[in-house]
Amino acid sequence: MRFLVSAVALSVFLLAGPLAQADPIKIKFSHVVAVNTPKGQMAEKFKELVDQRLAGKVEVEVFPNAQLFGDNKVLEALLLGDVQLAAPALSKFQKYTKSLQLYDLPFLFKNIKAVDNFMASDAGKNMLTATQKKGLVGLGFLHNGMKQLSSSSPMRVPEDAAGMKFRIMTSDVLAAQFQAVKASPQKKPFSEVFTLLQTKAIDGQENTWSNIFSKKFFEVQEYITESDHGYLGYMVVTSTEFWNGLPDDIRTEVQKALDEAIAFGNKVALEKDTEDKQAIVDSGRSKVIELTADERAKWVEAMKPVWKQFEGDIGKDLIDAALKSNM
Ligand code: LMR
Repeated sequence: MRFLVSAVALSVFLLAGPLAQADPIKIKFSHVVAVNTPKGQMAEKFKELVDQRLAGKVEVEVFPNAQLFGDNKVLEALLLGDVQLAAPALSKFQKYTKSLQLYDLPFLFKNIKAVDNFMASDAGKNMLTATQKKGLVGLGFLHNGMKQLSSSSPMRVPEDAAGMKFRIMTSDVLAAQFQAVKASPQKKPFSEVFTLLQTKAIDGQENTWSNIFSKKFFEVQEYITESDHGYLGYMVVTSTEFWNGLPDDIRTEVQKALDEAIAFGNKVALEKDTEDKQAIVDSGRSKVIELTADERAKWVEAMKPVWKQFEGDIGKDLIDAALKSNM
């Protein structure tokens, strides 16, 4: 009997031996945009790098187009451990921190170069820790581009927006921005925007050329004003619990792969900004409106009070630091 027990134990041990190697760590990366976008391409690049360098140790699965979780759910899903990586727009972190609302202030950053300057500064880098107390850790920032205003009627001056319904992301700053021009902001998930525009449930929305192109908003919007009035970028996040639970060597490699994937995504962002705009112009489906300096100044003036309105939440120091990056 004793022999039998030992024999069974031995065979279990022998069988388990080769299998004893740990299963690969799974990283589910959920996002809402199309694959052919800066974020979509960054996610694919990250997967490719991890597959090459951490084969058998880490497995990445990417879920684009809000297949797995939409805008308002993905951060909760991260905290619950249902996904391990996400890169929501900075405007979608309001529940977790007020400081990232900085990026929603209209006409704050002149261009992507200015955003880059700010993100490279100490104040900018520190913002990766803004959500840490809530259990989310920022691993990097990624660009999409400057936002444009698409609509069913031409937007040249702020008065043109009065009474119009514009879809926005879940940010009170963005709501205030549209209220400042007497429009009606509608907080809606990204995945619903096309249908809302198509059915005329809303009149317009703000987004980058790459999102307007890849989600075909230009096919259901007659006009796009090249306003460059705000910045759309992302924070790549994971949960503190998942991140701290990774073995040190794996964590270092994953961060390295992410850094490289983000650098790649940023290059894609610059390219798409020009290419996707051109594709929209070439399609002839939307008329692209360029503002004169005078018209633009009117939008700036109308929306500028939003800065003061949110100065207390965001912090004047941060706003001043961001302004310096425009030099
Ligand atoms: C939006 O909701 O308009 C964007 O945040 C989508 C995205 O992730 O680029």
